[in-house]
Amino acid sequence: MHIDRCYCYEVRLARLKRVAEATGADSVAALQERVEFGKNCQLCHPYVRRMLQTGEVVFEEVIRE
Ligand code: FES
Repeated sequence: MHIDRCYCYEVRLARLKRVAEATGADSVAALQERVEFGKNCQLCHPYVRRMLQTGEVVFEEVIRE
């Protein structure tokens, strides 16, 4: 398992991190105001939240919360 993006929209976590750093967006909703992602299955949301907390952009583990 190798998770580095919103798969439904093909948006990488690395890109979302750059947007967060540039704009101060600090939540999934705030990022969604700036980038089209995460509105389908929403399985990427826990990874985006973790990225916002830790800065990681590639995950090997399954995150469910
Ligand atoms: S993986 Fe992001 S909405 Fe499906």
